[in-house]
Amino acid sequence: MAIWAGDADAPNAIVGGGPRAPPEPGRGGARLAIIGFGGAGRELARLLALKSDEMDRLGVKVVAVADSRGAAICPRGFTGYELLKLAETPRSQVSSGPCGRPGAGVDEVYDETAPTIHVEVTPSDYETGEPGLSHAFKALRSGASFVTANKAPLALRFWDIVSEAASRGLYLGYSATVMAGTPLVSLLRGLRGCELRSFEGILNATTNYVLTVMQEKLVPLEEALEEAKAVGVAEPDPSLDLEGWDAAAKLVIVANTLGYKLTLGDVRRRPLNVSLGDVVSAMRRGRVVKYVARFTPGGAAEVAPVEVEQGSFLAQARGTENAVTIDVGFNVVKLAGRGGGVDATAHALLADIIEAVRGWVP
Ligand SMILES: NC(=O)c1ccc[n+]([C@@H]2O[C@H](COP(=O)([O-])OP(=O)(O)OC[C@H]3O[C@@H](n4cnc5c(N)ncnc54)[C@H](OP(=O)(O)O)[C@@H]3O)[C@@H](O)[C@H]2O)c1
Repeated sequence: MAIWAGDADAPNAIVGGGPRAPPEPGRGGARLAIIGFGGAGRELARLLALKSDEMDRLGVKVVAVADSRGAAICPRGFTGYELLKLAETPRSQVSSGPCGRPGAGVDEVYDETAPTIHVEVTPSDYETGEPGLSHAFKALRSGASFVTANKAPLALRFWDIVSEAASRGLYLGYSATVMAGTPLVSLLRGLRGCELRSFEGILNATTNYVLTVMQEKLVPLEEALEEAKAVGVAEPDPSLDLEGWDAAAKLVIVANTLGYKLTLGDVRRRPLNVSLGDVVSAMRRGRVVKYVARFTPGGAAEVAPVEVEQGSFLAQARGTENAVTIDVGFNVVKLAGRGGGVDATAHALLADIIEAVRGWVP
């Protein structure tokens, strides 16, 4: 059950940090290690290459990238061209690119480059939390700030990671974990101290896409899912999305950011198992089926397919769009926008990297 953790315990995105002066060109700045080099990691590398002038001004350089089979390690910092070359290496073969080191892992990356910002873009595993969980503690205990798109470490050990970062004055950035590309995490931080009445939201793009196709094309779930896979919205194995793990992990991150000690085990998960008949029946009654994550302090924490009023804020989120409604009594705050996709995720990671380097100086 969720309990109010109190303001003193509430996470601070710039844990232990405040506004920082931008580094002088060529001095200070940050040494970035990108751990995980699949869709999101590669898109981040491309984005950093495209923004190399801005990164130079900030003093940010990428010193290592790693996938499950090796790494590319470059203590002087990769050039933009080298980053683009690395992003074009075949999957699992980043070590075939510039400064490639087959078989090297996170330990070699730390020993040889001493990164100051660790960017975690490995797969989310909600049973063990690995490899992200070990990487989070390795990073923070080595003095590196931790920026993550991987939800599992925070979904499983949120407050341990927050405490580890806070006790060392390091930055913890996780804008990319929930509604990546739409700044929900910053919005939640702006609501600390408010009394939450309820949070509800569409936090998973795959289930919302599938339901949108079912409603608009009047096809069964299996057919809508095939379309979602064909356009690259759904993974070949979409079970983490359809069984609610992804939405539940995001709900845990949201609730904890607002100061509630909600765990993954507290979230009731109902899979997306609606029939076309359910969808049509709801439409006839002026309602729409949506896969909604809901949290009420002292009450329910649930992810489930539910009916919402046609024309309501959540009903209007189509396809891969996410939407949330946060009731804090004196105000009902609403936010909608993209939630994921490799480009949106890379931009969310970049926003955290810039904040880690500069603080929240505009
Ligand atoms: N894609 C999105 O739109 C999105 C949005 C928000 C959040 N996220 C989260 O971001 C993370 C990455 O997503 P993605 O789409 O980029 O996944 P992905 O394409 O599967 O890439 C994962 C990468 O992690 C690497 N990896 C696995 N184990 C590793 C280890 N022990 N050490 C180093 N690297 C390891 C993989 O190596 P190989 O290449 O060798 O397999 C791969 O390069 C996930 O946790 C996901 O939930 C993704």
